[in-house]
Amino acid sequence: MERENWATRAGFVLAAIGSAIGLGNIWRFGYLVYKNGGGAFLIPYFVALFVAGISLMILEFAIGHRFRGSAPASMRKLGGRGFEWIGWWAVTGGLIITMYYTVVIGWAIVYFTKSLTLAWGEDTGGYFFGTVLQLSDNPWDFGGFATEVLIATIIVWALNWLVDFRGIRKGIEKANLLLMPLLWLLAVILVIRAVTLPGAMEGIEWYLKPDFSKLGDYNIWLAAFGQIFFTLSLGMGIMIAYASYLPEKSDIANNAFIVSLANCAFSFLVGFAVFGTLGYMAYATQSDISDVVAQSVGLAFVVFPKALNMLPALKVFTAAVFFLALVVAGLSSSISLVEAVSSALMDKFGMERRKAVNIVVLVGFLGSIVYTTKAGLYWLDVVDHFINYYGLVLVGLLEVIAAAWLFDLTVLKNHINSVSEIKVGMWWDLAVKFATPLILAVLLILDIRGNLTENYGGYPTEVLLTGLSIIVLGMIVAAILSWRDKNVS
Ligand code: TRP
Repeated sequence: MERENWATRAGFVLAAIGSAIGLGNIWRFGYLVYKNGGGAFLIPYFVALFVAGISLMILEFAIGHRFRGSAPASMRKLGGRGFEWIGWWAVTGGLIITMYYTVVIGWAIVYFTKSLTLAWGEDTGGYFFGTVLQLSDNPWDFGGFATEVLIATIIVWALNWLVDFRGIRKGIEKANLLLMPLLWLLAVILVIRAVTLPGAMEGIEWYLKPDFSKLGDYNIWLAAFGQIFFTLSLGMGIMIAYASYLPEKSDIANNAFIVSLANCAFSFLVGFAVFGTLGYMAYATQSDISDVVAQSVGLAFVVFPKALNMLPALKVFTAAVFFLALVVAGLSSSISLVEAVSSALMDKFGMERRKAVNIVVLVGFLGSIVYTTKAGLYWLDVVDHFINYYGLVLVGLLEVIAAAWLFDLTVLKNHINSVSEIKVGMWWDLAVKFATPLILAVLLILDIRGNLTENYGGYPTEVLLTGLSIIVLGMIVAAILSWRDKNVS
C-alpha cells in the first residue's frame, strides 16, 4: 500500500501548528508568564524552546520522515524490535491525554452554545461546577452523567472521526487549512477587543513586567521546559506520524522552526487578550489582578465568563469568539493525536484507515466517559497530573536516548541536512545528546520525588493510585501491542 502524503508544504505545516496550538496556549501560557517573573520568564521559555523544543521537533520530524512510519514503526526501524514499545507508549500516553482533552473541548462547546444568552449568570463558579459539571462530593461518587457534557463530548469525537476518517489530504489537511486561519482570526479579534478596554494596559503590564530576580529559582526553568514540551505536542508520536506523510524531498529543519515559533507566537499573542481582559476586570471591580487571575479551567470557565459579563459592549460576540477559539484550538490538537494512533495501527496490522480510525475513536470515546460523569473533574485532574510526566516527559527521554545514544545520530543528522533549507550544526547534537536528556531526567526525578513526599492536590492515596494504574494499564497495552507480530513491513 502506498503511503498517503500531504498535498502541500503549507498543509503539513498548518496541521503541525494545529496540533501544537491547543488549550494550553490559551489558558496556561499567560498564567505561567505572570506567575514566573513576567517578561523575565520569556528568557527560560526561549532557552527551553531552542534547547528542548525545536531540537526535539527536528528530531521527531526526522525520525518520521526518514523511516516513513508512525511512532512505533519508526522506532522499530531505528533501533529494532525492543524499541517499538517506546512508540506505542508515546501514542497510548497521547490517547490517555486525548480522552480527557476531548471532554474539555466538550465544555467549550457547551459554553459556546451558552454564550448566545450569557447563560452562566453572575455566579460563574457555581454555574460551572454546579450546573454544567454537576461536580459530586468526592471522586468515588460518580453519580451519573453531566448530560450536556456527555453530548458535547460525543460531538467532539464525531468531529475527530469525520476528519481523520477522510485521511491526510481530504481530512486533516483540509480541516487545518480552514481551522488555522480561523483560529488566528479569532485570536486577533480577542486581542483587539481586550486592548481597547480601560485597564487593559495595567493587565498587560502584570503579564509582562519583568522580575529578573525570579530567574534564580530553578522551578521557573522547569516550568518553562515542561510547558514547551506539552505545547509543542512532543513525545506523543504526533510529529513523527505527521512527518511520515511528507514527500521524500521535503524540508525538515526549517519547518520545525516555523511550527515551533508560530506556536509560541500564538501563545504570546493570546496573552494580550487574556491579560488585557483581566486588567479590565480588575479595573471594573476595583481589585487587584491577583484577585481575578486564575489558571487552566478556572480561567476559561469561571473567570472569563465573569469578565465577559462586565464588558461594556459586544458581550455575546466576544463570548462566542472566545469559546469558539477554544474549540478550534482543541480540535486541531485532538485530530492530530487520533491520527498518530490510527497510523500506528495501520502500520502494524496493515489495517485500512477507516477501520483504524473507527477503533481509535471508539476506544477514545469509551475512555472519555469517566470524565463526563459527575466525578469527572477529579479524575481529569489526577490523570492529567501523572500522564504529563510518565507519558510525555518519559517518552521524550526514551526517544532521545534511543536516537542519540543507542542509534547513530549522525545518520539522522545527515538525513536532515540532505533535505533541509537550514542545516543543523553541532548545537543540535549537543541539544539532543546532552541538554535535553539531562533536563528531562531532572524533571522526571523531581516529579517522582514530589509525588513520594506529598499527595498531589490533597487527594487520598487510593485515588492517586487508581489514576496511576490507568497509566500503568496504558503501558501494559503498549507492551502487548509491540509484542504482537503481524504484518511487519
Ligand atoms: N499542544 C497541546 C496544547 O498546548 C496539547 C497537546 C499536545 C495535545 N498533544 C496533544 C492535546 C494531543 C490533545 C491531544 O494544548
